[in-house]
Amino acid sequence: MPISNSPSITVGDVSLPGRAFLAPMAGITDAPFRDVAERFGAGMVVSEMIASANLGTGQKEMLRKLTHTGKLPHVVQIAGNEEKWLTLGVKIASDAGADIIDINMGCPSKKVTNGFAGSALMRVPDRALKLIDAVIADSPVPVTLKMRLGWNDEQINAPEIAKRAQDAGVQMIAVHGRTRQQFYKGQARWEPVRDVVEAVKIPVIVNGDIVDETTAKAALKISKAAGVMIGRGAQGTPWIVGQIDAALLDRQPQDSPVKNELIQLIIAHHQAMLSAYGIDLGMRVSRKHLRWYFEAANIALSPEQSRELLTQSDPDKTHALINQHINNHDNRVTSAA
Ligand SMILES: Cc1cc2nc3c(=O)[nH]c(=O)nc-3n(C[C@H](O)[C@H](O)[C@H](O)COP(=O)(O)O)c2cc1C
Repeated sequence: MPISNSPSITVGDVSLPGRAFLAPMAGITDAPFRDVAERFGAGMVVSEMIASANLGTGQKEMLRKLTHTGKLPHVVQIAGNEEKWLTLGVKIASDAGADIIDINMGCPSKKVTNGFAGSALMRVPDRALKLIDAVIADSPVPVTLKMRLGWNDEQINAPEIAKRAQDAGVQMIAVHGRTRQQFYKGQARWEPVRDVVEAVKIPVIVNGDIVDETTAKAALKISKAAGVMIGRGAQGTPWIVGQIDAALLDRQPQDSPVKNELIQLIIAHHQAMLSAYGIDLGMRVSRKHLRWYFEAANIALSPEQSRELLTQSDPDKTHALINQHINNHDNRVTSAA
């Protein structure tokens, strides 16, 4: 059955409007970024990973990561390796309005895996399942899971863990087609994700190196997954998630913003970051996004121009520079054509 005719994905009692999702990315998929992806039609967006122990002890940064301003379901990803923190995290997140709780079992970072959280849980499936059971028992909202293929090539256990997680009550699983030992190296493999799809009845979402309609369709064809999740491909192009979603559902995608639309979008996103973080922190948080927007638009800045743009402390000057660089670039492109 073509994907455009398949019934929509539901996670427990939450019905998702699409099949292309924005992947959780720490330091990136905050509320302002998720809102831009939503505006262009993303089918689901996920918060940054929230460390449950830090959330449970009231760390301000983690509480801020719970902020949700969009209309799509509020999907909160939590990480941890202790029942008491995970269950407290679930309570805090659901009290804050989470519609879905996602458990992180994919993060490869040593900081996270040394504490036996993130992808390290895939090495100890019994422990992972105990935590999953505890989260499901305490969660008033549906629980999903994000994982990798396994710890390394010798331990590809995503299908077994997925089956056990499903039997425990997990309602959807996203699989990044790499092992933990691969970190982000090499190519994501979509074929082994099919083994996960075949092991469970709940929706499986394929993730890894999906950047456009072609890769999304190839990943779905190979993995037979129900949907796709896009991470790095959305950096500097948050509209790509909605465009892929539209392509999968045979809908008319929104055009990529160019010229004035791009200027307005970047400035609005920048403003939203300043509102979310305050001016000092917001100016710093926004730097990577500005860099990605310019890179994605093929606007090459000299080292001096880059420094000037990215080290401003006055938002009005930043906005004037965004305007100036995009207009200059467009004038050059138009006169060369
Ligand atoms: C900067 C960065 C931060 C990430 N943070 C998270 C996270 O908080 N939680 C998570 O489950 N995965 C995280 N990931 C992994 C992504 O969700 C995704 O699985 C991975 O990047 C592969 O997808 P892609 O090729 O589309 O980027 C992160 C990835 C990157 C690059």
